[in-house]
Amino acid sequence: MTPEIIRTLVELRSKVAGWKAAGESVAVVPTMGALHQGHLSLVRAAKEACDRVIVTIFINPKQFNNPEDYKNYPRTEEEDARKLIALKADVVYVPDGEQMYPNGFATTVSVEGITQGLCGAHRAGHFDGVATIVTKLFTQTQADKAFFGEKDYQQLQVVTRLARDLDLPIEVIGCPTIREEDGLAMSSRNLLLSDRARTWAPELHRAMEEMSEGLLAGGDLETLRAAAVSRVERAGFTQVEYLDLRSADQLELMTTPDRPARLLAAAWLAGVRLIDNIAVG
Ligand code: PAF
Repeated sequence: MTPEIIRTLVELRSKVAGWKAAGESVAVVPTMGALHQGHLSLVRAAKEACDRVIVTIFINPKQFNNPEDYKNYPRTEEEDARKLIALKADVVYVPDGEQMYPNGFATTVSVEGITQGLCGAHRAGHFDGVATIVTKLFTQTQADKAFFGEKDYQQLQVVTRLARDLDLPIEVIGCPTIREEDGLAMSSRNLLLSDRARTWAPELHRAMEEMSEGLLAGGDLETLRAAAVSRVERAGFTQVEYLDLRSADQLELMTTPDRPARLLAAAWLAGVRLIDNIAVG
C-alpha cells in the first residue's frame, strides 16, 4: 500500500494522536529524500521496533552552508514514495519551507562541543541547522524512537546529545552504514557523481580500511594519514578536508586506538563532498 503523504503539521498531529490513543508506538526516520538502501534499512529497523513509521522528507535549507549545494541536492519525491510502498511505512511527512520555518521563525538549537571539529569545522552553521530541524521533527512527530544512519556519525552523536540534554522523550537509535558492493558508503550525494568519478569513489573507504589496519598494527598516525591522503589523491580526489582518528563517543582526537575509536573522513571528488567513517578495531 502506498504510504499516506502528509504535508501539514495539523494533519500529522491528528494522525499521530489517533495512533497514540490506540496505544501504538511511533518511529520516525528523518531524511532529506533521494532515498537509497541506507535509508530503507532505517525504515526496516523502525518497522521492526514500532507499530507505526513516519518517514520525513525535508531538504532543510538551514543546514546547507553553500547555496549551490542546496540547489543541486537531488529531489526525487515520487520515486521516494514508491520505494516506501514495499516497506509499509505508514506516513511520509513532506512539509514545505513555510510549514517548518514560518515567517518570524527565530529559534536555533545549538549543541556545543562535539559539533566543533570534523564537519562542524568545515560547514559553518551546519549542525545548528540539523539540531534545529531535528528538534522540530521530534516534537512534531512525537515519535518514541528515531532512526539515524551511522554514515553521518557526527550527526548521530549531535542528535543523541540534544535529545538527552533537552529531555526529549525519544530514543535515538543509530544503524550501521550500508555500502555498495565496492565499499562506497551509500549516500544521496552519490547520485551527483559522474560515471567516472563513481568508479574512483570507493578508494576513500579502501584507504580508510588500510589506515585502520595500520593503526591496529601499531603504526604511526601521521605516517598512515599521509599515505591514505596520497592514495585518495592519486585516485582523483581533490581535497581531503579531514581524516581523523577520534573517540567513538565524545569524538575527541586520538593518536592511537587504545579505546573505542573511529576514523572519520570528508573529501571532495569531482565537485562532490563525500563523507565516511569506520570503527577501528
Ligand atoms: O541526515 C539527513 O538527511 C539530515 O541531516 C536530517 C537528519 C534529515 C536533518 O535534515
